[in-house]
Amino acid sequence: TTPRPLIAGNWKMNGLAAALDEARAVAAALEQRPASARVAIFPPSTLLHRLAEAVEGSTVLVGGQDCHPKASGAHTGDISAEMIGDAGGAMVIVGHSERRTDHGETCQQVAAKVEAALAGDLEPVICVGESLEQRQAGEAVSFVVGQLRNSLPDSLQGKAFNVAYEPIWAIGTGHVASVDNIIEMHAAIRAELATRFGEQGRTIPILYGGSVKPENAAEILAAPEVGGALVGGASLKAKDFLAIIQAA
Ligand code: G3H
Repeated sequence: TTPRPLIAGNWKMNGLAAALDEARAVAAALEQRPASARVAIFPPSTLLHRLAEAVEGSTVLVGGQDCHPKASGAHTGDISAEMIGDAGGAMVIVGHSERRTDHGETCQQVAAKVEAALAGDLEPVICVGESLEQRQAGEAVSFVVGQLRNSLPDSLQGKAFNVAYEPIWAIGTGHVASVDNIIEMHAAIRAELATRFGEQGRTIPILYGGSVKPENAAEILAAPEVGGALVGGASLKAKDFLAIIQAA
């Protein structure tokens, strides 16, 4: 069976307590009009617990934006998968390009974080994506497939997980990838997942991320092998996020 698409809102380093009202509004609207997609919000860790409480009893899932490869220990500033679960989270984003760039995370570290997510009973959303230079050099597909190969541990076999394709040049820029680019990359990711994970690999949701907005969501979500969206900026306002959710 094909899993339902996932519409994931990544708040990144945005959101003070007032933002909880946006999450409440999303939860309330979904109560009125259930979505065909699964919906998850990934707030900054300071809001994780409060957001989980704010949407408790609704269909909105909550997740962390990153986790440490270890379950606990002397790692100032980090949070573990177990802590995310303890705060009410069910999912975690790993390997976002902003983590890879800002914190120098390697694919090997990302794979270790995925292992930690699974050990903590969280469903991971594993991100891959090429830079503008790599795309211009014609290396986008080979780079992303390589990233995927190295960021996904074998232990994912049989576990629920998601892949998010986010071309770095499309993140927060307003320059969404063309549907042709998306179709080509998602097909390559699907082929790699099927080779690696067999039957399961044919149904793993592959999300697209990068300047998804209410105006372009329907076209992107209708493209072959697009199993949802990872939404940054447009997930901060309930109205925009709901419009994207309803496009799925
Ligand atoms: O995690 C979300 C992505 O990085 C996309 O961000 O929708 O603001 O371009 P954006």
